[in-house]
Amino acid sequence: MQSSSLAALKELALHCARSAGQLSLARMREPFTVEYKTSASDLVTAVDKEVEQHVINLILERFPDHGILGEERTFVGDPGQYDTLWVIDPIDGTTNFVHQQINFSVSIAVYHKGEGLVGAVYDPSRDELFYAVKGEGAFLNDRLLRLERHVRLEEALLCTSVFWNERAEQMGIDLIVKKLAGKVRGMRLLGSAALEMAYVAAGRLDGYVSLSLNAWDFGAGRIIVEEAGGRVTSMAGTPLPFDQKSSVMACNPAFYEELQHYLSLSESTEKD
Ligand code: IPD
Ligand code: CA
Ligand code: CA
Ligand code: CA
Repeated sequence: MQSSSLAALKELALHCARSAGQLSLARMREPFTVEYKTSASDLVTAVDKEVEQHVINLILERFPDHGILGEERTFVGDPGQYDTLWVIDPIDGTTNFVHQQINFSVSIAVYHKGEGLVGAVYDPSRDELFYAVKGEGAFLNDRLLRLERHVRLEEALLCTSVFWNERAEQMGIDLIVKKLAGKVRGMRLLGSAALEMAYVAAGRLDGYVSLSLNAWDFGAGRIIVEEAGGRVTSMAGTPLPFDQKSSVMACNPAFYEELQHYLSLSESTEKD
């Protein structure tokens, strides 16, 4: 990948993230329809769909031969057939978008032959753009993000996601909380995986742990955390896949091994 085209990908990814975020904020102020996908805890709004289509149009206008994997349209065709793949979540944190009208984000990532090149997570409510370019570092707006502070696990503020439907029990989510109780300083639940991972890169959280996420949830966050000097794998310590759901742990490198040790103990944490 030439550096000029990397710059073009960065420019478009950042533009898509900002533009999608502004559109979602504007639409939030008007009435919009909300539907259930699989249950009352799994929502999609007309805004998710409109924003995703808006981002797809921006990408294909500029790069018609690129592939796109998005949550709401989950690309037509085989994402594996494209060298360059955009992985997008138009609204990450739809439940927050509907209820809180804050704490949601847009997540845009560009991968080339499986390698993460650009990641952008935009929080329109706070006008915060977290982004990273492979080899060039991670940023919050114009500020460079580096995880240089040595954090011990007992001093760490972690964050997790949970399912609030009948799957919660099958997924063994209580295990994560039980395993980490007494070992970390505290746990938070924010409700947008992409934003939570961006906060890890920014040092606002020291780690993020979740069961069963899709590539559009972690695609950009992974690049941003890694470029900030953090580590991102599944709870089993393996690289995150694109073609199936996976658990995710993203954290300050200082306690990665210790955290991974606690989280890898149960098979049930890896079940979908
Ligand atoms: C969800 C959010 C949430 C996480 C869920 C995701 P969505 O994404 O990231 O924090 O717990 O697993 O599905 O559906 O709001 O884009
Ligand atoms: Ca969703
Ligand atoms: Ca999501
Ligand atoms: Ca979404």
